[in-house]
Amino acid sequence: MADGASRVRALEWAPSGALRSLDQTRLPTAERWLELDRVEAVVEAIRMLRVRGAPAIGVAAAMGLAASLLRVAHLPRERFLQVLDASADELVRSRPTAVNLAWAITRMRAAAASATESTAAVFEALHAEAEAIRVEDEAMCRAMGEAGQELVRPINGPREVADGAPADADAIRILTHCNTGALATAGIGTALSVIYVAHERGVPVHVWVDETRPLFQGSRLTAWELARAGIAHTVIPDGAAASLMQQGRVDLVVVGADRIARNGDAANKIGTYPLAIAARAHGVPFYVVAPSSTFDAQTESGADIVIEQRSASEVTRPFGHRLAPEGSPVWNPAFDVTPAALITGWVSERGLVSPPFE
Ligand code: MRU
Repeated sequence: MADGASRVRALEWAPSGALRSLDQTRLPTAERWLELDRVEAVVEAIRMLRVRGAPAIGVAAAMGLAASLLRVAHLPRERFLQVLDASADELVRSRPTAVNLAWAITRMRAAAASATESTAAVFEALHAEAEAIRVEDEAMCRAMGEAGQELVRPINGPREVADGAPADADAIRILTHCNTGALATAGIGTALSVIYVAHERGVPVHVWVDETRPLFQGSRLTAWELARAGIAHTVIPDGAAASLMQQGRVDLVVVGADRIARNGDAANKIGTYPLAIAARAHGVPFYVVAPSSTFDAQTESGADIVIEQRSASEVTRPFGHRLAPEGSPVWNPAFDVTPAALITGWVSERGLVSPPFE
């Protein structure tokens, strides 16, 4: 149930004022919490995907920035602001594609600028802004989940299962990619919030979970969340998604986004674009679900989005298992861009929205 989902919380304040973050690189086998009170540690956690997902890295950057400044709260205001500035710059540089990160840091800088009296006032304003960003994200997740309910309906004809891949005969079969749930946000998720709310309302759903290579955010994280929430799901290799659609076994595709350009092009986890092509080829609706913090009116189109390139070892030796010969060249973009023309619709906390996004 969504209650179960809301109990999964990846980010919280420690009693010490540090940022507590569930280390997502250890899931699904271990639930290990990190306590982060230095900006270098927050940057490391974001870079290594210990905390990940566009909204979550924005929230973590804001909370982590406030937490890291506790140790310099004794400095005079001007000096404190210099440390704040340098820390904020470092955080913005930690991952380039998700606009939520820069968006959250811009809000934090503005909050600091508005507190003119003393270091204590600036620190308090930063803490309050980070908490506001967290709470707003939680509320946007719930609103997206509710707004997305109008999408949750069966569209395909035959429901028989020919080859034993489980899917409840009456269920609405929703395919998703990467992890867009409670782990990726401060609430119940973006695309996954649609699934959580449907389940909460008693709508039978069955989720096809793309494993999401190379770092398996689907099989490691989404399946973990869905299992905890008691939601029927089946993990599939990424390459199986088009075949499922070809067989008429997908009613709807929902994905999140890391940045949505003004014209509606959406950057999301690598492998999203081929899903959109397959969905179009098979007449399956393809929706992008994201909070307003993911929409970037300054970026005209997908061509202007910076795509993060990640290390070769994530492909050749993921989680310490060698899967390609040492020395084989690798191309490992973390995201791809789905053109607006392939997207059936965009859902934000305001409901169904369409470009141009101002
Ligand atoms: O590299 P990741 O795991 O941070 O990528 C996350 C995604 O691509 C999600 O789909 C996206 O951030 C939207 S999620 C809420």
